[in-house]
Amino acid sequence: MTENNFIPKPYTNPIEKGAFTWSSPSNIALVKYWGKKKDQIPENPSISFTLNNCKTTTTLSFSKKADKEAFSFEVYLDGEKKESFKSKIETFFNRVEVYLPFLKAYHFKIETSNTFPHSSGIASSASGMSALALCLMSVEKALMGANDASSAVEYSQYETYFIQKASFLARLGSGSACRSLEGDLVVWGQHESIEGSSDLFGVKFPHQVHEAFKNYHDTILLVDKGEKVVSSTVGHNLMHGHPFAQERFKQADKNLKTITEILKSGDLDAFIALVESEALTLHAMMMTSMPYFILMKPNTLEIINKIWAFRAETGSKVCFTLDAGANVHVLYPEHEAETVKTFIETELADFCQNKQFIHDAVGIGACQLINNN
Ligand code: DP6
Repeated sequence: MTENNFIPKPYTNPIEKGAFTWSSPSNIALVKYWGKKKDQIPENPSISFTLNNCKTTTTLSFSKKADKEAFSFEVYLDGEKKESFKSKIETFFNRVEVYLPFLKAYHFKIETSNTFPHSSGIASSASGMSALALCLMSVEKALMGANDASSAVEYSQYETYFIQKASFLARLGSGSACRSLEGDLVVWGQHESIEGSSDLFGVKFPHQVHEAFKNYHDTILLVDKGEKVVSSTVGHNLMHGHPFAQERFKQADKNLKTITEILKSGDLDAFIALVESEALTLHAMMMTSMPYFILMKPNTLEIINKIWAFRAETGSKVCFTLDAGANVHVLYPEHEAETVKTFIETELADFCQNKQFIHDAVGIGACQLINNN
């Protein structure tokens, strides 16, 4: 499978205008993607839980324009025009134009909204870019026409192609976005123990998953709702020439194999050790790069220590993971949901900005919504 598989044959069903809506969730990595090569190719494979409640809904309306000179689009967040989103989308359009040759033929209106508060510090790029990629794939599907859609590709099932190409496009918008389309676990990056895995798109975790991981919970503690200190693009670049980079990439490779076994066996202690180590390693990479950054806040550490103490006292299997910021994702199994939620409310909420947290759980991925127009 190469990039060329995603270059479409000429479209046969010209359309003037239309609109599509997709809703796509965020995801939380268990083995982290940190470091990339040219064209958004990851340095190591990663795996994530797809979330359920934190999601972006995007409506893409399109209408044919006279010229095909340049991209033409406008972006709205919660009904308000967002000029600041334009450059990211322009970069995205430039990267994907070869795979979506219709992009300059239409004017697009992108209307988007998130279920989580805008300034929560939760990255919306994974849910946002995957929702947009899916909308664009719906446009392509319409341009191909119903019959062409299945004959235009070598796949027996067009649906597989649709989701793979959407993940491929989402990756070109934001790497981790390619892991948001399906549930409940998605792997991105080529790895020997994951059949069908690819650096180009995410694939559903193909192995058996133990009951213990069904409906796993993730409560996101909003420790710092401010702008990210380091954008993920800058962060990934810090891995170029990083003294520990090669060892880190090897470790992630090994951890992916280990977590595959853990997910099968249901060994929650091994899960905790691997997931927390991954989170701290991600931050260790940022603390040991040049320039160096500390993205945790004092309250991040307070929360981690509280989680460790709670585990020691109660034997709970609650654990934490982090993204590239100060917020903490608290992970716990379904059967502990009630006790851990009480623990969060009584002991951890005080360390969150305005006591804010978001209860979420593992979800099934993106879905298309019906347009009324
Ligand atoms: C720490 O996917 O946001 O969340 O490809 O530059 O858009 P870009 O980066 P992004 O990086 C996410 C990094 C992470 C770990 C992860 O999700 O695997």
